Amino acid sequence: MNITENRNSKKNLNKHESDKLLEPFESVSNTALLTSYSRSFSDIPYEKEIYDWLSKNCNGEFKFNKLRAPEMEARYKLIDQLIKKVDIPQILELASGYSSRGLIFSSEGYKYVEMDLETVASNKKRLINELFKPNDNLKVVSGNALNYDDYIKCDSYLNDNEIIIVNEGLLRYLTFDEKRRVGENIYQLLKKHGGVWITSDVTPKRFIQEQEKLTPKSNNDINNINSRKNLNDRFEDENHIRTFLKEIGFNNIELHQFIEVKDELKSFDALDIDKDLCDSLLESAIVAIIRI
Ligand SMILES: C[S@@+](CC[C@H](N)C(=O)[O-])C[C@H]1O[C@@H](n2cnc3c(N)ncnc32)[C@H](O)[C@@H]1O
Repeated sequence: MNITENRNSKKNLNKHESDKLLEPFESVSNTALLTSYSRSFSDIPYEKEIYDWLSKNCNGEFKFNKLRAPEMEARYKLIDQLIKKVDIPQILELASGYSSRGLIFSSEGYKYVEMDLETVASNKKRLINELFKPNDNLKVVSGNALNYDDYIKCDSYLNDNEIIIVNEGLLRYLTFDEKRRVGENIYQLLKKHGGVWITSDVTPKRFIQEQEKLTPKSNNDINNINSRKNLNDRFEDENHIRTFLKEIGFNNIELHQFIEVKDELKSFDALDIDKDLCDSLLESAIVAIIRI
């Protein structure tokens, strides 16, 4: 692993179509190493062990800016808090990467299905087998969030009751048409089960502006480790987020700010970062609980 520190339409697809859809996304998988590394400075269980395994078993290259670590930790912890608040005991996490969330919730009795692209899903299965005890509540499925057939594959591991669908760090890499397709797939599955969609990925432009102020080069660095150049496909503001989601069929949207979990963040101390330095960033970043 090569890490550089920077201090400063509802249509179902056939196999050929879905393979073509996959190609441009595989490069995003590199970014899952960066988010995993960022969380290794937190107190989230298993994150250090997972990153340690990845560093020995996966090739990848990324630049790490320590000022982005509290943001990654806050994103993870706020989503966890909202999952617990919603209190539905089965979860489908899209683009789950190397996150420990599935391991933790499944060990607490949740039925948990993770979906990610082929390479990440197969690494994830290996690392779980090598580091942790088998757990029947957790399934890792290889799939593309743009392809509804892959949701059906995941659904076969879930019961008919309500579900939570979660994703963090996926939609930012997608164009608005692609974001809409993912939203429509999620809508279709929630229409069947009932439940909620929890995501940090409805990123407003203000958040990106705050990231640029705090860590001027870090978004370019992320751009450089994947071939998707959609960092400008951002929501203008809260109104834009609500209109976009309403057009898909989501009428109930509750927004939470990352700053709500500031007091729980450990990466400030672990990385020797001034605790107030990231406030504007953490205020501008949101997690949404979205219902039909
Ligand atoms: C920034 S990482 C986030 C991973 C994880 N959620 C986390 O926070 O650590 C982005 C993830 O999206 C996955 N991904 C990209 N395009 C995808 C797609 N079309 N369908 C499913 N997963 C996708 C990548 O493989 C990668 O694991």
